[in-house]
Amino acid sequence: MIKKCLFPVAGYGTRFLPATKSMPKEMLPIVNKPLVQYGVEEAIAAGMTTCAMVTGRGKRSIADHFDISFELEHQISGTGKEVYLESIRNVLDKGVFTMVRQREMKGLGHAILTGEALIGSEPFGVVLSDDLCINDGPGVLSQMAELYRQFRCSIVAIQEVPVEEVHKYGVIAGESLKDGIFRVDEMVEKPDAASAPSNLAIIGRYILTPDIFDILRETPPGANGEVQLTDALQTQARQGCVMAYKFSGRRFDCGSVPGFVEATNFVYEHLYSQQ
Ligand code: G1P
Repeated sequence: MIKKCLFPVAGYGTRFLPATKSMPKEMLPIVNKPLVQYGVEEAIAAGMTTCAMVTGRGKRSIADHFDISFELEHQISGTGKEVYLESIRNVLDKGVFTMVRQREMKGLGHAILTGEALIGSEPFGVVLSDDLCINDGPGVLSQMAELYRQFRCSIVAIQEVPVEEVHKYGVIAGESLKDGIFRVDEMVEKPDAASAPSNLAIIGRYILTPDIFDILRETPPGANGEVQLTDALQTQARQGCVMAYKFSGRRFDCGSVPGFVEATNFVYEHLYSQQ
């Protein structure tokens, strides 16, 4: 039912400098696969086969990654090394990749609004590929797409975090409907611990209804002087309905060095099979 997923991939990745000086942070590998490919695989598994990328200057290697490399295909065709291309060939077989460039970095909300040209007027998923989510069963986006069928409104993925970390996240408060599902009353982007409405933090997976674009157009800059998706979602929650969902699975904050290392160790131990 939801066919498109938006990937805001224009950010600078300052926390990973100098590695990200000339290389997109989304291309940093967790073992042998770039972060963004994990997100794309999760979206495709959820049926969101159109992957809409909001890119920027210096991000051309992302577009190249999701395209065929004739030289490489030619070079290793018929050799034992073909196995190394299996996962990306699989992604290319199933997915369609569209791109638009965000010319100015004005925040996540602005990046989402830039993606409107690729999404149009249908509900869509969003993946922030810094957040690597791994689950034995259905992926987080698949879980959320299932919930969308029930609620037909925007949904944010949430996770409990220690109170001293709430300032890094969008934080929600709401009425608990059933296990792990909340109807959102309040949302704040990067609150300090004292004013946070809870310790339920938004993780980088969303299902958004397309009225979010009109709301974003009217949303003034918020925390850090940026147009915040959280503020637009707060408006949407007031006007209608936004749900929050405590997903099943593990999440690694690969936008931070410790989270990145933890994800690397986890994937190496549990998912990576040496070809
Ligand atoms: C963004 C969102 C924030 C969310 C976080 C999840 O923040 O603005 O609401 O909690 O992603 O990773 P960023 O990490 O880009 O500062």
